[in-house]
Amino acid sequence: MSDTTSNQMWGGRFAAGPDAIMEAINASIGFDQRMAAQDIAGSRAHAAMLGATGIVSPSDVEAIRKGLLTVLSEIETGAFVFSTALEDIHMNVESRLTEVIGTPAGRLHTARSRNDQVATDFRLWVRDQLDAADAGLVALMRALLGQAEAGADWVMPGFTHLQTAQPVTWGHHMMAYVEMFARDLGRVRDARSRMNESPLGAAALAGTSFPIDRHMTADALGFDRPMANSLDAVSDRDFALEFLGAASICAMHLSRFAEELVIWSSAQFRFVTLSDRFSTGSSIMPQKKNPDAAELIRAKIGRIFGANVALMMVMKGLPLAYSKDMQEDKEQVFDAADSLMLALAAMEGMVRDMTANRAALERAAASGFSTATDLADWLVRVLDLPFRQAHHVTGALVALAEKKDCDLPDLTLADMQGVHEGITEAVFEVLGVHNSVASRLSHGGTAPLRVREQVARWKEILG
Ligand code: ARG
Repeated sequence: MSDTTSNQMWGGRFAAGPDAIMEAINASIGFDQRMAAQDIAGSRAHAAMLGATGIVSPSDVEAIRKGLLTVLSEIETGAFVFSTALEDIHMNVESRLTEVIGTPAGRLHTARSRNDQVATDFRLWVRDQLDAADAGLVALMRALLGQAEAGADWVMPGFTHLQTAQPVTWGHHMMAYVEMFARDLGRVRDARSRMNESPLGAAALAGTSFPIDRHMTADALGFDRPMANSLDAVSDRDFALEFLGAASICAMHLSRFAEELVIWSSAQFRFVTLSDRFSTGSSIMPQKKNPDAAELIRAKIGRIFGANVALMMVMKGLPLAYSKDMQEDKEQVFDAADSLMLALAAMEGMVRDMTANRAALERAAASGFSTATDLADWLVRVLDLPFRQAHHVTGALVALAEKKDCDLPDLTLADMQGVHEGITEAVFEVLGVHNSVASRLSHGGTAPLRVREQVARWKEILG
């Protein structure tokens, strides 16, 4: 169809075709062809329902069914020619259906509008993405569990302000991310259960006078039920925003972990070695092995959260029901979904492949006066000092060690007693990093015993 003829879908009212600029701003086929499979699934469910309710004759429904399968296979094999003049995926499919089966195709749009059609397609598409995110998160959690189990009792420095704080276990650090990604998974599943209602049959905005069966189409498409209000059904995109919201928080978690991997894989830290499969070299510096995947994961949140903001801006201030603004919902969501799935997969691969450098972790764990809190706690427990005074005594010992350019366990008993006379040889037991982590048995603490309990719990949950 050329630009100058009137539109075959609504030519009745129009004498001329659209201006080229109008066509360019109006067409969505360049991107919404990604919903082709969903569009055809929705049409098949709708056609079957039109047949079952006697709205369309069995022979026409059968022709439509077969024709839609032909169109689907043309799209899948790449034989389908998408046309910008036909605006979007809905009209491209219907137009081709008309070419393939003739007049019965004209009955498919009975009791339906592109408004409920696009809302249905997009819900189905986002639902698939929620399922993909679910699978990606579970795979990542399993990879983290593998790391946590192997290194449940490996010690490393725990940081606050990126300054050495207290020793923790490698397993504990990995399990912190398991908890975060588990909450992301919860948000994904929660969004899926809330969004799983069918807009189909809301028609343009007010419902229809045909005796349709919305429960039947909802069932056929795997929805839990039809949406209760036709205006709402065609005019909200909160399901896409919930996906973007959950994706944004997940991307934030991925970004933080990616940042840690960038730091940890540097020559200064050497906490982890990333596999060659998930690193790149430099074109000029032969010694370089760069954590590009981690850096890109760290950056992906920009696109994902950007999409969230963009769609929120599209939707704010729109009166009910459908407005063409809403066509701007898809590209953002498509891009965010692609970015999230790639980031999840890359993170999973990196975590599976990476090697934690146990010796480097342990060396770092013991430096930076990381057991100062253990020392203060010992003064409270054994010498019955008030914590504030214990803090003060420990601070003086740290200052002394700093002056002598050594770590706390390297001070002599005489050094210690010079600061507080009550200190005994037994204090040296708590200054070791392994004793330190083993003592942190409080619920949720870093002790290897607790870490192994958590690993076992999550393995059972994930099955
Ligand atoms: N391409 C449109 C979109 O993505 C489909 C719905 C068009 N509806 C309409 N009344 N113009 O939103």
